Amino acid sequence: MVAPLAIHPSSRTGSGPRDAFGRRMNYLRISLTDRCNFRCLYCMPAIGMKFQPRDEMLTDEELIRVVGLCAELGFTKLRLTGGEPTIRPHLVDLVRAMKAFPGIEELSMTTNALLLGRMAPDLKQAGLDRVNISIDTLDPVRFKAMTRGGRFDLVWQGIEAAEAAGMTPVKLNSVVVRGQNDHEVAEMARLTIERDWQVRFLEIMPMEGVGMVYDEGLVTSEETQRRLESTFGPLDPVAADPSDPARTWRIPGARGTIGFISPISAPFCESCNRVRLTADGNLRLCLLRPDEVNLRDMIRAGASDAEMLNRIRGGVWRKPWGHRVAEGDRDTIRGMSQIGG
Ligand code: 5AD
Ligand code: SF4
Repeated sequence: MVAPLAIHPSSRTGSGPRDAFGRRMNYLRISLTDRCNFRCLYCMPAIGMKFQPRDEMLTDEELIRVVGLCAELGFTKLRLTGGEPTIRPHLVDLVRAMKAFPGIEELSMTTNALLLGRMAPDLKQAGLDRVNISIDTLDPVRFKAMTRGGRFDLVWQGIEAAEAAGMTPVKLNSVVVRGQNDHEVAEMARLTIERDWQVRFLEIMPMEGVGMVYDEGLVTSEETQRRLESTFGPLDPVAADPSDPARTWRIPGARGTIGFISPISAPFCESCNRVRLTADGNLRLCLLRPDEVNLRDMIRAGASDAEMLNRIRGGVWRKPWGHRVAEGDRDTIRGMSQIGG
């Protein structure tokens, strides 16, 4: 474990339960399903992907109960993830129910946008504020290869539908993988010149099932930034929310911005304000460490709200600090599609 340095002042303030280091948690990322309609090569193995039996997943009712308890504890921000959250049945109703809890100020979703073309207006109307869209390349042939079958044209329509529905600012996430899309980062970044979007470049993480892709494919944010600056000249720094893991820059004169998310080369534990709920009902305290608190079994054993609140508070208190992925530690245990990014 990395020794905790000073925590960022931003994580001491605000609402939400505290961990033993003094960080406050007010951001819950909720994986709605471990299944997906893509098979991105940095997320799932080509063969042998195992999905969880449905009876192990939280039901809609159980999920809404947990979210309500988190709202009561002071969580203010929710993000829906997956797998692919748009394939969860009753998504619009779930959005409406979650947004209705007092104290929930922002509800967003990370999606591959394949189904957004038809779902965006209903989701917005139900209370979904914003979306982050995963898109690694603008070349339809490469897109199909990286997602193992995905259709670029439908995803692009999904992005446009999200923007048209007012789910702004649009943020695009691009995982940079050497030999796949690293030569195209300038093309992705160029989107921000005319559009008020944020294009974010993520370092690949060695999640379960994709260790080899990580070993061969990691491109650090520093290298990506150097590539961009060799095309566009020096980028201008942009001040951002301290709890946002993206460090933000702008191509001089551009309408939108560029973000770098660097979990490997520059971990952001000191300003972490988030915990995750897996689709099978575990509170996952850190993406890159195995610590979890099982809520589902407790619900199914008939726990009271007070007991549940205690369990969540106690879990947050034990949230770990630091990972040693860059040094070769791989105790991540689960795949990204189970934890929800
Ligand atoms: N490393 C980094 N990011 C990943 N994502 C999925 N798998 C990985 C990985 N191994 C990203 C997706 C999505 C977000 C939830 O996480 O592209 O944008
Ligand atoms: Fe699906 Fe997202 Fe994983 Fe790609 S990264 S396979 S879109 S869950």
